[in-house]
Amino acid sequence: MSNLTEWRIEPISSNDEGCCFYLDYYKPFRLAALEQDPDAFGSTYDREINFTDDEWLSRINNPLVKTFVAVRLHDRKVLSATSLIGPMPNPDPASNPFQASSEMRDASDHHHQNHAEASSVSFQITGVYTLPEARRQGLAKMLAEIAIGEAVAYAEQYGKRLELSLIVYTSNSGAMLFYESCGFVASVEGPRESFNPHKNASADEICMHYRKSPE
Ligand SMILES: CC(C)(COP(=O)(O)OP(=O)(O)OC[C@H]1O[C@@H](n2cnc3c(N)ncnc32)[C@H](O)[C@@H]1OP(=O)(O)O)[C@@H](O)C(=O)NCCC(=O)NCCS
Repeated sequence: MSNLTEWRIEPISSNDEGCCFYLDYYKPFRLAALEQDPDAFGSTYDREINFTDDEWLSRINNPLVKTFVAVRLHDRKVLSATSLIGPMPNPDPASNPFQASSEMRDASDHHHQNHAEASSVSFQITGVYTLPEARRQGLAKMLAEIAIGEAVAYAEQYGKRLELSLIVYTSNSGAMLFYESCGFVASVEGPRESFNPHKNASADEICMHYRKSPE
């Protein structure tokens, strides 16, 4: 990992090659993330291990979702990933953004109408994970900067104010510090208790909003 030529950052495209990559490389990465760090995510390993290929591909085929990965060059192993979802009609980030974005896609006419009228555009960052052996080497931050850049560029293109947010469990202090290092600040509204139907349990989560350019 110390040699910067060993990996590269790329978006996963929705073409045939991107779909194959998603199933062969991103899916095992995502399942490993859910298995290794279950408390970091709203979804669960037991839920996603049962997804069909079509369910996996519905995420990459959703035009509201962009996933960026750091990939090891010699074997294409995914080391780190981040997804950007938006523009979303609702400025409040969703606890389960992949599900929310699929519902938004299904209601796209209504969504486009809202988007045209709104003075701001809302995006959400989700699915942030770095393999344990690749942590603290700047990968997640590089991916976050790319996702932030995409959202900023979209807002500028349409002349709208950007609302870029994410949701993190308050018990996940390492992730909160990571997001702060990327320019996010915790909502002044503070933590809220959220019931997670996939875990049949409640946990405190907090919204973080992007407020400045990353350092
Ligand atoms: C949070 C996570 C994605 C960070 O990934 P990473 O690739 O190690 O992050 P980076 O190397 O880009 O870190 C950039 C900066 O963020 C901060 N940071 C990252 N991880 C941190 C931690 N565990 N504790 C404190 N600060 C941290 C540091 O300031 C770091 O810079 P530094 O290493 O020069 O001090 C990774 O620890 C992870 O996958 N955790 C489990 C899953 C998770 O919590 N995901 C978020 C769900 S909301």
